[in-house]
This record gives sequence, C-alpha cells and structure tokens, in this order.
Amino acid sequence: MKKIHLLLAAIFTCSMAFAQQPVYKNPSYSSQERINDLLARMTIEEKVGQLNQVNGGVLTGPSVANDPGAQGKVQLLKEGMVGSFLNVVGTEQTLATQKIAVEQTRLGIPLLFAFDVIHGYKTVFPIPLAEAASWDLEAAERATAIAAKEASAAGLHWTFAPMMDVSREPRWGRVMEGSGEDPYLQAKFAEARVKGFQGNLDENHVLATVKHFAAYGAAEAGKEYNTVDLSRYALWNYYLPPYKAAVEAGVATVMNSFNIMDGVPSSGSDFLVNQVLRDKWGFNGLVVSDWASFGEMINHGYSKDAKEAAIQSIMAGSDMDMESGVMRTTLAESVKNGEVPMAVLDEAVKRVLSLKFQLGLFDDPYKYHDAAKERRTLLAAEHLAEARKSAAASMTLLKNDQGLLPLQNPKSILVLGHLAESQEDVLDFWKGQGDHANTVTILEGLKAKYPASDITFIQAVNRDGIFDQNAVKQINKAAKKAEVVIATIGLFGDLAGEARSLGDISPSDGQMTMLHAAKATGKPVVVLVQAGRPMVLTEVVRDFGTILYTWIGGTQHGHGVADVLSGDVNPSAKTAMSFPAAVGQIPVYYNHYNTGRPHQDGNEGPAHFWVSRYRDIPNEPLFPFGYGLSYSTYEYSDLKLSKKSINQNESVTVTVNIKNTSQVDGTEIVQLYIRDLVAQPIRPVKELKDFTRVDIPAGQSRTVSFELPATKLSFYDENGNTLLQKGAFKVFVGKNSDDVLEADLELK
Ligand code: BGC
Repeated sequence: MKKIHLLLAAIFTCSMAFAQQPVYKNPSYSSQERINDLLARMTIEEKVGQLNQVNGGVLTGPSVANDPGAQGKVQLLKEGMVGSFLNVVGTEQTLATQKIAVEQTRLGIPLLFAFDVIHGYKTVFPIPLAEAASWDLEAAERATAIAAKEASAAGLHWTFAPMMDVSREPRWGRVMEGSGEDPYLQAKFAEARVKGFQGNLDENHVLATVKHFAAYGAAEAGKEYNTVDLSRYALWNYYLPPYKAAVEAGVATVMNSFNIMDGVPSSGSDFLVNQVLRDKWGFNGLVVSDWASFGEMINHGYSKDAKEAAIQSIMAGSDMDMESGVMRTTLAESVKNGEVPMAVLDEAVKRVLSLKFQLGLFDDPYKYHDAAKERRTLLAAEHLAEARKSAAASMTLLKNDQGLLPLQNPKSILVLGHLAESQEDVLDFWKGQGDHANTVTILEGLKAKYPASDITFIQAVNRDGIFDQNAVKQINKAAKKAEVVIATIGLFGDLAGEARSLGDISPSDGQMTMLHAAKATGKPVVVLVQAGRPMVLTEVVRDFGTILYTWIGGTQHGHGVADVLSGDVNPSAKTAMSFPAAVGQIPVYYNHYNTGRPHQDGNEGPAHFWVSRYRDIPNEPLFPFGYGLSYSTYEYSDLKLSKKSINQNESVTVTVNIKNTSQVDGTEIVQLYIRDLVAQPIRPVKELKDFTRVDIPAGQSRTVSFELPATKLSFYDENGNTLLQKGAFKVFVGKNSDDVLEADLELK
C-alpha cells in the first residue's frame, strides 16, 4: 500500500514538474503542439540556427571561406545557431556537444548528429557496389541494421546514406557507394537499406538520407562534380526511380546533389525539390544540402552572392545548409525584409524539429550517448560474422576456365602483390570509423584458412603499382615449391569514393609485369582484383584463366576471399555494373537504346560498315551487367509464359527450369528482363524487371517462377507521367543481361 502511495506521489510530482514546463518540453502534448509552442518562442535567428549544419570533425569536403573555426562554432552553438553537427562521432564527443546545446542555450533544443555511415560504422561491410553484386536484399538490410546499431550506439542519430545514384561511369570514384547501373536493382537496394538503417527509428537505428538528389551519377565523363546534361526522359526513367523507392520506403531525409539539372543547381532546383520530390512524391521530410552546395551555386553562376543562394535554396524547398553558412549569415535578414516569407522559414524549421521530436530527443536528449553500450556494440562478434558472410557473398568470379578454383588444401601457396598484405586497402574513403588495425588482410585470411599450407609472400608490386625488378628472381625461386600462385592487383582503397575520378582504370604496368612473371613460372595463377569500381581488364582476361573480383570487402575482406577461394563459400555474385573492354567504350551499359544502325560484335564485312560501332574496339563490354560465375554450373530451359497476351490489369506468370549441372550445391541469381519492341518514345533493348536468388543442390533442377504484372511494362514520359503502351514485348530470363532465353508477350 505504502509503495503505491509513493508511486502516485512520484507521478503527481512528475506531472507537476511537467505542468511548470513549457509545452514543448512536456511529453503529454502532441509533437505538433510542442513544435508550434517552440516555434512561437524562437527568434528568427534561432529559427535560422536550426537550419545550420556544421562540421565538427574530419573534413569530408573543402573548408569554406566563412568557416568560423572551432571556437567560433562553439560560440555559434551557445547562441542557438547550430541545428546539427556532422562528423562529430563517439559517445564522448557527442555527449559533450549535446550538453552545450541542451544546457547552455536559451531554449535547450537538442542537436542532431550526422555522419556518413555508408557501409558500416566500426564493422565495415563491403562497399555498396560489392554488396549489390550479391543481389541479396535481406543481407543488405541486415548489414545496414548493424551499421545503424553501431552508429547509434556511438551517439549518432543520422546517416547520409543510402546513396542511390544510378551510374554508368566506372571512371567516377563514387560508383562504389551505389548499386550500379540499373534503376530497378538500385531501387530494390534503396528499400532494403532504408529499412535496415531506420527500422522503427528507436535508439538502435538512425535516420537515413537518400542522396544525391538528383542524377549526380550522370556527371559528364565520370569527372567528379561535373556538369550533368540529360533529357527529362532519361531522368524519369533511369535516374529518379531509386530515390523514389527510398521515399516510398519512408526515408527521413533527402540530400541535394552537387550537379545541375536543366542548367539549375540541384540545391536550388524548384523542379527537383518542390515539384518532383515534395509535390509529386509527397515527401515532407527534411532536405539537406550537400557539403556547401548552397554556397556553390555562386560558383555555378546561378546565385550572385550568399544571400541570393540562401533565398534560392529555401524557396526551392531545400531546408538545411550543410557547411556553406549562407543561411546562417544571410537568411534572417531576408526573412525580416520579406524576401523569404516567414511561413517558408517555419516549414523548414518544423521539418528539423519534427525529426528531433520523432527521435525523442526533447524527452531524453542523452539517450544515444551511453559509453558502455558503445563499447559492447562496436565490432560485436555477430557483426563481424555478418560482415564476413557479406564479403564472401560479394566476391564475383569472372573466370575459372580450368576449374582451378576452389583450392582445396594446397600444400604451398605463393602470394604476390602489395594488396595481399594491406590492411589499409580493404577499406575505402567512406570507411566510417573503421580502423585499419581491425581488418583482415588476404594473407591473414589465407593463413587462417589453410593452417597447414606453406604460404610465401612476395610484395613484388608496391602500393603505387610499381614493380620491383628484383622480384622476378624471388618469384621464380619461390614458385618452384608452390602449388599455386595467388596474385593481387587492383586499385588502392582510398581511390574509391568522392573526388576520386580516374581517367585510367586499368591495372598498372607494374601489376601486369608481376602477373606475367607469375605466369612465366608455369604454375597455375589465380588473379584477385581489388577495386571499388569495374576496371578495364582486357589484357588480364586475355592472358589469365582464373579471376576473382573481390571489390573492397571491408573489415573481413581477407576471410571473405579465403572462404571463396577454398570453396567454403560457393561464389554466386553477379556484377551490378558492366565491365568495359576499353575506357573508350565508357559509358557502356546493358539497358541502352537500339540505334537506327545497330551492330553486334562478330558481324563483319561490307554489310556491317555503316553501323554504330567503333573500328578499333568492340561494342560489347568485357563482362555484361548481371554477370558472374560460380563453382556450380547451370543450364536454363523451358522458359514459359502462362499467357501469350495480357491486358493492363493482368499479370503473367513466367517460369523457367534451371538445372545445377555440377557436383556442387549452389545459389543462382536468376534475372528477368523485358523489351518493349515498339514504343513512343523508344525503349531500351533490355530492362531488368525482377530477379531472385535460388538455392539449387548439385545435380538437381528447380523451377523458378516470376509474376510479371502489366504495370511493370510501363515507363515514364518526359514529364513523369506513366505510360503503358499496348503492343509486342519480349520477356527474357537468364544468367545475366546477355545470356538469356526469350519469349513473346503481347499487351492488349
Ligand atoms: C558528399 C556527401 C556527404 C557529405 C558529408 C559531401 O562531400 O558528397 O555524400 O554526405 O559530404 O560528408
């Protein structure tokens, strides 16, 4: 009895305490009431402060001219002029910073802490492009959920991911962050990653950001930050669908891109933000600029000064200014003199505040800053186990001509190349808080996998790709006792990511010299290629029969490689980007249009002269989109459609028989494409519309079936209206975008 009285008394005291509090601090009111109450108490400057996001850690962009410096930032924070920090990480730092916001500012509005958790926080998963090669959406959801768990345990509320920029440009360093060249596959990963990061938005998850809106992946010639100039038709059909999928999956925030669209920088594009994102897709969440992108509208020649840039951004529907400071320094004045209506400012501020309420920060601002939880969460054993599975699942087998792989207990192995011993290069620029010291190298992975093998390592080629001439002798000597040579080539890890465009994406001369020295020993050679993008491997493919593309596998890279080489994991990954045969082909991608004079490689002679082709290099990529081998082999047969024709409200069942013709159990990624044969406007020669992963035991067959609704035959016109045109279609099912069976379908 006594206890109950005490409890009642406590509740009473508590509600008395709330009653004395302002409405915005009182959880018994709705978020809406609390936001309105708070807004009514804020000065114009404090409102603008909420739109100001400031870097508090390592630079992930150029330092800006009006940067207030560390002391200046603390001062701004105390004045209520910071709504969010990026790059402040870890419970200690975030807690100390949050305390200032909550305890030393006039209104005590908590901060949002944001960070680029792209493919892991401390436990680093394979780069997203590698993860996409697994076509495993559940695994992607699990990986992002783990990333979210670690990030939120380290004081973070918000990640700037997933990046959903479709790209056909392997010269562009940022292809590593996305899911490749196909809008459908990318959109599927958008859903999975948004779900994984956000979950139910409790304190084990983080707010996600779909970026970079829009079409940043179309930068001309793959040159970073370059001009984007494309048709609205391509924008709607290729570039926008993944962002839209993320919005439909409930992504909390959207980030502007650096590029222009129709001559207007995305950050100030009323068309992109107000018309498409907000009006057409109904997105009412926060839009954050990219690093200083509001201010960069001056460089673009779109804004005459900071004041105009801030006005153009907010009037276009963007809300938060990351790092450029143009809103902080000019927006209050523009609101006071009526150039920006108060209602527009209030809307933007409400979007920031509502995220803070949604996360419960007004009720418990310190709930993300528990150091003990941080310690037990980061690099937890189950996170590492999942990262290892994910690394192995992303390794893409490009060639295995003589069935050299898997390597079952080789007595002796000669390992070559700097990348085999490098902890640094299994992480990339967007490695989160991943430490090199925690990574597993290829050499370590091999030693752990084959404890009884005699493993010799010779660097031969250094990090810069330079071959050491003395290595030839060493290789020859060591090869004598080696059963097999494993040679590593590729690009070092930090060449993947932002501001890492490359004009040459071939292996270095030194790496090729090393490969040929290995081959000259007469021993079988396994080539491992490590890179954050498809490389041009024409010479390697011509001269070597065993090639595994390992991408950049993260913390557990070495174990992932060894799991696949040994056959403990049967590879099943298929590339989400075409591999060019020469840089001169780029962009080369599977879902291109037919021309008026199409050409297929292999067709020669006078009848094939006035056609769309190069005279010196092939038309086709070295490896097409969706390509990858396995230790199993599969035979596809009996492609059947349940109906020959369907109307707009119907769907057709597509079935295919797949036999695992090998002695090894495997998982096959089955891909369904369509082609709309005659359409106005024209349609691509193939479009991915569905896929599945199917486990097929050795020697057995499985019937795989897809439901293809007529709606999947639709596309967008240049204004974003959906078109569904009657007529003849092809339906293809196969191993990759090139190797398919086909059937006819009519839409009535
Ligand atoms: C990148 C964004 C990133 C931001 C913050 C920018 O330079 O383009 O993708 O989220 O920096 O680090």
